[in-house]
Amino acid sequence: MHTVYITKNPKRRFNVYLFGKLPSTNDEIKKAVYNPFDAVIANNQSDGKGRNGRPFVSNEGGLYMSVLLDGDAPFAEYITPLAGAAAASVLEEFGFDAGIKWVNDIFVGGGKICGILAEKFSRGEKNYIALGIGLNVNNKNFGEFADIATSMFLQTNSRYRLSEVAGRVLETLNFFLAAGKKKTIDVFREKSIVLGKKIVLSDGGDRVTAVGIDGDGGLIVEDGKGNRRVITAGSIRVED
Ligand code: BTN
Repeated sequence: MHTVYITKNPKRRFNVYLFGKLPSTNDEIKKAVYNPFDAVIANNQSDGKGRNGRPFVSNEGGLYMSVLLDGDAPFAEYITPLAGAAAASVLEEFGFDAGIKWVNDIFVGGGKICGILAEKFSRGEKNYIALGIGLNVNNKNFGEFADIATSMFLQTNSRYRLSEVAGRVLETLNFFLAAGKKKTIDVFREKSIVLGKKIVLSDGGDRVTAVGIDGDGGLIVEDGKGNRRVITAGSIRVED
């Protein structure tokens, strides 16, 4: 079962700017010509950025999208879980069993299909978020990342209309931007694939069990002695 999220009373709609090739849609949307609720989409990126300075494979066939958002809005504090909830919901709409690996990766069939990069920045007095979503739609080739990445095409052997996928991602983002924190984090938690799993934290190599997602989207972990704490930053590796 999946839910199709439609904004009933959208305060704002995204203005979409389409490009062939860009270095990075996140870098493009940070330029002063863009305003909140502008969205930039490119067919490919020559310098696609992932988290922690890693590259993001951005060849033809994928959806590379960045939107500019108000960095002082209430949703700013949970923007990565929000984007994850939206991307996983759209994949389910297209028939995929999508799961979120805390906090910014979406997996289908054991492969990473979507990554999210939310960058906060300021221009003068104003704070903004460049929210980037890279979704592997019709991609066939991931080079050195072939064993960890997948795409909608590789999962089904069918091609998808990029404009339709992009439209559903923007509409679903719009839904969650208006939905409030509780609804958004509930969906993020429901689609999480790490709960009950042993994980290793990137910060100190600590091996713990992921036991829950708190109301802010933080990951609740438990060590071998039953001590619990909440992880709010960094990345994790799932062990089993
Ligand atoms: C990750 O998996 O570590 C995050 C990947 C984010 C990739 C998207 S593609 C659109 C936007 N532009 C970028 O340069 N990066 C993000």
